[in-house]
Amino acid sequence: MNTPLRLGIAGLGTVGIGVVKIVQTHGEMLARRAGRAIEIVAVSASSRTKKRSADISAYAWEDDPVALGRRDDVDLVLELIGGENGTAKALAETAIANGKDVVTANKALLAHHGHALALAAEAQGRALRFEAAVAGGIPVIKALTEGLAGNRIERVMGVMNGTCNYILTRMEATGQGYNALFEECARLGFLEADPNLDVGGIDAGHKLSLLAAIAFGTQVKFSAVELQGITDISLDDIRLARDMGFSIKLLGVAQMTGRGLEQRMTPCLVPEAHPLGQLDGGTNMVVIEGDSVGQIVLRGAGAGEGPTASAVMGDVIDIARGFRLPTFGAPADTLIEAPAAVVSSAAPWYLRMVLLDKPGALAKIATALGDAGISIDRMRQYSHDGAHAPVLIVTHKAASDDIRHALDRFAATGVLVEEPVAMRIEEV
Ligand code: HSE
Repeated sequence: MNTPLRLGIAGLGTVGIGVVKIVQTHGEMLARRAGRAIEIVAVSASSRTKKRSADISAYAWEDDPVALGRRDDVDLVLELIGGENGTAKALAETAIANGKDVVTANKALLAHHGHALALAAEAQGRALRFEAAVAGGIPVIKALTEGLAGNRIERVMGVMNGTCNYILTRMEATGQGYNALFEECARLGFLEADPNLDVGGIDAGHKLSLLAAIAFGTQVKFSAVELQGITDISLDDIRLARDMGFSIKLLGVAQMTGRGLEQRMTPCLVPEAHPLGQLDGGTNMVVIEGDSVGQIVLRGAGAGEGPTASAVMGDVIDIARGFRLPTFGAPADTLIEAPAAVVSSAAPWYLRMVLLDKPGALAKIATALGDAGISIDRMRQYSHDGAHAPVLIVTHKAASDDIRHALDRFAATGVLVEEPVAMRIEEV
């Protein structure tokens, strides 16, 4: 019989306790699948005595999580603490330096330090795996590194923050504004300790940067992600976009172009008929396009005890089997430093504005678009009070720079009542 794989778990919050429960309830099944027993040896968390939904009394306790990385009786450290620096980073570094494998759910840590940690782990012949860090229970890291390894990846897209998707879809369903839904999320406990990680697009941006590194063989570079959150999305835009056949999503897009690596996590319009447009509530979706496979769509729970622990256990079982893939799918020392694309690829755009209702106002806007080299695909003027005219324009494909120029020209026309809204329409 093979020797057991001995786990040290740092962090007994939602994810950590989910892992404890899976190990406790499915021990025999896990051993059969892994070819060896998987045992929890030691744990660490902020409070030893806190009431928990799983019994941890059989495990050794460490007050200092980093000590798990030095224990001789631990083979694999699960870093389930969170945070991009501090204890989580110290634990991962210590565990790797002491020849242990590491599994983490920590997207912030990897988005900032993933390349250095992967180099360190691979130099030690150890695994650093992070399935749970991206899109919760969806096995998207495995899909990219294994199932789709024979493809040149063309584009990766995704809705990867359930809280934002919950807010946007509930705004539409209930007719409430952003602030009311934000408060609802706070009451329901959906928000990260720093809510800006969610609504500012940072959490989802971390995840996108990790997928981009795998998809394009590049060193993870979160600082190159163009980030915009959902705080300025209005009910008007959600309704008018729908009227034109689109849904607004906080959408991540990564693609390698002739101008460099494009990484965007911004509010975008997607066709309402596409699975992305249909995605409701706190669910996540990742869309991958490969040169051979075409487009595939993965959908599932992006957070929560069971789904996230499921993803952690997938990595644990791989390591128990002796399966140690490089962290980002190719050896870390072969990953390239991709230049960031300064200008994103051309796309149709949604433009909403309120104009003074006077002769020639619309003509000035059309002329400004023409002068910026942008062609109009569809246009609608909505009923109004006589003084102001709400206008919605969908353009043909245009470069983001040209859209910026057009917005500058709009401002100079003197017919705008308020700041116009411009959102990219992602062609899927
Ligand atoms: N706060 C995240 C979300 C889950 O709402 O999807 C953890 O990344």
